[in-house]
Amino acid sequence: MIIGFFLISLLSLGQAARQSDIVDSLPDQPALKSKWYSGHYNVSNTARQYHYMFVESQGTPSTDPIIYWFDGGPGISSMVGLFSGIGPLFFTHQSLKFAENPYTWNLHANLMFIENPVGVGFSYVPTDKDTFNNDWNVQEDLFSFTQQFFADFPEYLSNPLYLAGNSYGGIYAPFLGYAIHQYNLIANFSTPPKQHYNLKGFIIANGGTDWKYDFLSETTPYTYAAFNIFPESLLQEYLRLGCTIKNPLIFKGWEPVEECIPIINRMAYLHNNGVDIYDLLRMPYKAAGSMENKDQGFNTYQATTQTTPNALYLADYLNRKDVREALHIPDYVPDYPVNSQNIQVLRNFQWHVEGSGFIQEILAKYGLYKIVHIFGDTDGQTTLFGVRQWIKSTQWKTTSEWTPWINLAGNMGGYTQTYENVYTLLTMRAVGHSAVYIALPQIQDIVFKFIRGASSPVDLIEI
Ligand SMILES: *[C@@H]1O[C@H](CO)[C@@H](O)[C@H](O)[C@H]1NC(C)=O
Ligand SMILES: *[C@@H]1O[C@H](CO)[C@@H](O)[C@H](O)[C@H]1NC(C)=O
Repeated sequence: MIIGFFLISLLSLGQAARQSDIVDSLPDQPALKSKWYSGHYNVSNTARQYHYMFVESQGTPSTDPIIYWFDGGPGISSMVGLFSGIGPLFFTHQSLKFAENPYTWNLHANLMFIENPVGVGFSYVPTDKDTFNNDWNVQEDLFSFTQQFFADFPEYLSNPLYLAGNSYGGIYAPFLGYAIHQYNLIANFSTPPKQHYNLKGFIIANGGTDWKYDFLSETTPYTYAAFNIFPESLLQEYLRLGCTIKNPLIFKGWEPVEECIPIINRMAYLHNNGVDIYDLLRMPYKAAGSMENKDQGFNTYQATTQTTPNALYLADYLNRKDVREALHIPDYVPDYPVNSQNIQVLRNFQWHVEGSGFIQEILAKYGLYKIVHIFGDTDGQTTLFGVRQWIKSTQWKTTSEWTPWINLAGNMGGYTQTYENVYTLLTMRAVGHSAVYIALPQIQDIVFKFIRGASSPVDLIEI
């Protein structure tokens, strides 16, 4: 009897840590096809807490990669990713009922969704002061989470680890990756060597890189002229006078030079009157923020996802008492926000002038990590032209030329070019900022090829 008892307690040791986070089921939704966890971790030795959801692979959890997924904002919850295309269940149009998502990455990957920064969604901040964040404290918090998670789930330490994100999430991912990389450098040189994290690569979608070129920057007018929103003459005038545009959110106190003001005002007038900056080819679409108040808010995801499932009513579902209970959300955590974005976290975010390009350059230099940057080419917020200018500034060597690729429908899907053998820019034609939520089957195919280590994540159209 005593021996038997001993065995049982030893057996349960390996997975004892977070048993209480297991999600048995989601009320009124299809049964879960793999093990889900939902819970909280305090981060960076403070009373601030991340809410995470970890969805084990439907394939082979013990060997499939782990992919972290980040939505952008800053301030948009990664529950959007979990429930609108990346996770195994997604919303069917205009209803609170989920359907099984055949395009989920979860068929061959363990998925990690962290509501980031703290204060977003069901993540928790004890004081208002904690809604102020910047890239560096977010990096610290995410790394703190990562260390605690793998301490509780050591069986996952050897799985390949990928970090993925859309838009601003494309900044969180390399920042966290840089922290893991630095940790690994130290771990590898310790005696005895410490366990390293098996970081393999990054999947970035319409991500921010360098603020000189991205997100309302000096190069933005080129794109708006190319899309016939600005007349050519206005662009020429802008160039002739040597005007620049900088984002005042990032470059505090920046103001245009006097003679450029009329030009910049004219540009603002031309694009502020009905152009959807997230997708220059689509009509803006007024969307509901919740079931009760259908005219509230303007959901940028919905703006370009009229025919695909969406996270529009996520708050209505997640705020149900039985759903909170199923996800183990403590009572002290406030409601999940309408539109999935914490506006206070957004407003209080301290943008840095560095962007994330310099980190991507360092990570590429080591040659240890593969990076794919998927880019919807009709994005007018973070522009393809701008990102290409940033890439040009890195002086990376092209290792595979700008080549068209063929999509699942048999059409030309966009272009791809690889630099330094590790950084692949992959454009997607006629989709915008939320490409990752629109072209679901194609994105799934790209992700699976990428994590399998295919020589290219798309089929090339060779000469
Ligand atoms: C973790 O966070 C909670 C909620 O803020 C707090 O009550 C608790 O004291 C924190 N625990 C630690 C060890 O800091
Ligand atoms: C640390 O060591 C592991 C195992 O040898 C290796 O795969 C990894 O690339 C190393 N990491 C760094 C940053 O050198």
